Formats: sequence, C-alpha cells, structure tokens
Amino acid sequence: MYTVGIITASDKGAKGERVDLSGKLIEEIMTEAGYKVLKYIMLPDDAIGLSNEMVFMADELKINLILTTGGTGFSQRDVTPEATMNIIQKDAPGIAEAIRHNSLNITPKAMLSRGVSGIRGNTLIVNLPGSPKAVKESLTFILDPLLHGLQILV
Ligand code: MTE
Repeated sequence: MYTVGIITASDKGAKGERVDLSGKLIEEIMTEAGYKVLKYIMLPDDAIGLSNEMVFMADELKINLILTTGGTGFSQRDVTPEATMNIIQKDAPGIAEAIRHNSLNITPKAMLSRGVSGIRGNTLIVNLPGSPKAVKESLTFILDPLLHGLQILV
C-alpha cells in the first residue's frame, strides 16, 4: 500500500479562517483508491515552510506520494510551485502537463495553474490547484498512471 502526504497551502486555512475542503477531498479520493494517508497538514503560503515540510515527508517519513493543493496561481502569495522546484531532484513534467491538458477541456482558466510535478529520492510530488472542484478534476484524471509511476519509482 502506497503512502500519501497531503499539504494544503493556504494563508487563511492555516490561520483557521477557512475550512480546508480540498485537503479533505484528497484524503477521501486517495483512501478510496487504496492509499494510506500518513500525514495531512495545512500551512501558510510560505515557500521555505512548504519546502521544509516536503523534505520532511520525503526524507524522514519516506512517504511515496506528496500531493499539495493550493498556491499555484498568480497571486503574489502563491509559491507552491517554487517551494516544490526548490527541493525536487528530477522534473516529472508530464503529470502537471496532463493535469492542465485535461483541465483545459473543462475550463480555460486551467491555464492559470502553475503547478509542477517532480521526484525527490523515492517520493513523487504533485501540485494540484486549490479549489475542491479543481482537485477532483485534476486528481481523478491522473490516478491510474500515477499508480504505474509509483510502482516503477518505489
Ligand atoms: N483546474 C481545474 N481542473 N478546474 C478548475 O476549476 N481552476 C483554475 C486553475 N486550475 C481550475 C483549474 C483557476 S481559476 C486558478 S486561479 C488556478 O487553477 C490556480 O489555483 P490555485 O491558486 O488555487 O492553486
């Protein structure tokens, strides 16, 4: 059974001003798909804090798959892709490309997500956009090939 770490990047969520529906939805979808969610955390939109958590999940907890949600847009505070790029060792652009490609069939605004995907050690990291709608549309599309990727990586 593959393990998952979920990071919700949200200033408002971290301050308790917003309920995190997206992180919960990822937990539901991944549990349903047979994964074990090992850690779930909500953090402010701060690149260093986000990077540190990804490194902890990958290097210390040895989590197989890290899914982030939020912070991929154009706001000055959106830094999840940068936090991810700072700590991955290999780019795996096809996953982020597939998410945008599929999502563009649903809404042209999908082009506004700057989400990236890559590998650190034996951990795959994928950025998902922030809204529950976007999470569902993005995650369900990549689930099958994601499993195959993990079988090769881990
Ligand atoms: N992708 C899908 N599948 N569905 C959506 O509704 N919303 C877009 C985009 N990707 C969307 C989507 C919008 S409106 C934005 S602004 C960007 O994701 C960035 O979202 P984020 O800043 O919450 O990560």
